[in-house]
Amino acid sequence: MIELNKYALEFWENHLQENNQDSKAAREYLEKREISVETQKAFHIGFAPDSWDAVMSLLKKQGADEKLIETSGLVSINEEKKRVYDRFRGRIMFPVLDIKGNPIAFGARILATGEPKYLNSPETPAYIKGEHLYGLFQSKEEIRLKKFAILVEGYLDLIALYQYGIKNVAASLGTAFTPEQSKLLGRFTKKIVINYDGDNAGIKAARRAIETLVVEDFEVKVLLLPDGQDPDDFLKANGAESYNHLRGRAYPFLQFVLENLSRERTVNSPKAKAEAIQEVLPVLSSIRNLVERRETLKQTLKFFQIEDKVTENYLWKEIQKREKNFGKDGETALEVKNFVIKRNATKITVAEQHLLELLIYDKDLREIILPALEETDYEQLATSEIFRALLALKEIGSDVTSENLLKLVEDDAAASDFVSVLLMSEPARDLDEAIDEVLTEAENCVATLRSMALASRILDISQELVFAEQTGDFELRDALVNEQISLARMKRDFEKRIVEK
Ligand code: CTP
Ligand code: MN
Repeated sequence: MIELNKYALEFWENHLQENNQDSKAAREYLEKREISVETQKAFHIGFAPDSWDAVMSLLKKQGADEKLIETSGLVSINEEKKRVYDRFRGRIMFPVLDIKGNPIAFGARILATGEPKYLNSPETPAYIKGEHLYGLFQSKEEIRLKKFAILVEGYLDLIALYQYGIKNVAASLGTAFTPEQSKLLGRFTKKIVINYDGDNAGIKAARRAIETLVVEDFEVKVLLLPDGQDPDDFLKANGAESYNHLRGRAYPFLQFVLENLSRERTVNSPKAKAEAIQEVLPVLSSIRNLVERRETLKQTLKFFQIEDKVTENYLWKEIQKREKNFGKDGETALEVKNFVIKRNATKITVAEQHLLELLIYDKDLREIILPALEETDYEQLATSEIFRALLALKEIGSDVTSENLLKLVEDDAAASDFVSVLLMSEPARDLDEAIDEVLTEAENCVATLRSMALASRILDISQELVFAEQTGDFELRDALVNEQISLARMKRDFEKRIVEK
């Protein structure tokens, strides 16, 4: 099989240099893609003529057995008409070499736009998908020397990096990264920077590759290029120096996973945190070293601002369990989620409790305070439903009675419980006393809540900022910094008001 592939490779490589219209167009295409002749040689890039039998007859002339040709993947077979013809026609040929340099398969790119963009060899006795890495034959020495590898998706990403002098690269070729590939790569290094496309598909593929690599004890980082560019696009626009600069600041894999989760959705409610943590668990349980695994769990919880030791210990046990029966965690997933939610339900703060105690008995105070409240003041609080209920009752002109309140918050068990607690407190003033004192108290509470909400927004932005820095989105970064500054200023103003009174 390899021998047949060698004939084809040589034929296509030679054909690229021939003096005809098609070959010229192929050379022009490669030139347009800025692939030098030297690089073409290093990767044995070729051109397959637009012919139904060029390779077929070449192989026959070499005396190859017809059955053997049919299993080589170099030809396609039309079962109905029993015709056998060249699989690759009018395409740029990228040979896939094994670690010894033997051609085992081919990727073939169309010159113009059209479908499919790439046509690849099928599996053959010489080639099992997912057991090889494109470019590793050319890059393995450099990977050993540099002590790390960059993993990219495409043929042309690898070739572009190589040509820009970054030669410690391997390509997974757009399929899921397999355990076999990570073992193969592991013979040369245990450090890897994943640099897949920055689009959603690329990010998802990176997530899966992380798990595969971490299980094999790799130190994994992830590099995301700005504007969803692939390495080829980025290098052409910015050059090798910029690339190396960003590569030096690639995310440790945990940070990548966490930032990515928190970018997909806001993770400030206990429910959202629990769901996000659930998604990180498979990554955590793939970490082999127990010290590192525990440390990574701690960092994860810190990221979600969960300080509860009980949660940590519970998740630790879950992670150990999952390692033993990987993949069979469908049932426990819900349990884990509910546990985390329960343990980390938002605590009721002194300020919100006091404000609600004041409001619940005092219609005059409600008339002043409720219209001044903004949704952001209470939306993150454990008692947010009670605030909503008070506003709703004011809206429809109903009295604040325990019955009315409870009806409005009945879907929220914690809020219902808390209404009963509130109703056990004493009114702060008789209704014929002056309102000034309680009004000041209530305003102080509102200012405290507002400053808490601002603090939490400022924290959220810090997380977004790391991501903007990393992806080099400087416009976003500047906008976020400005937002943080103005929020911090507002926060100081509110805090000053509390002190002054
Ligand atoms: N791929 C494939 N078949 C396709 C599309 C993609 O096998 N129809 C594989 C190829 O190995 C390709 C990789 O997925 O190199 C990445 O795909 P893509 O990003 O679309 O291609 P690029 O390598 O960036 O190629 P180009 O720059 O020429 O578009
Ligand atoms: Mn590309």
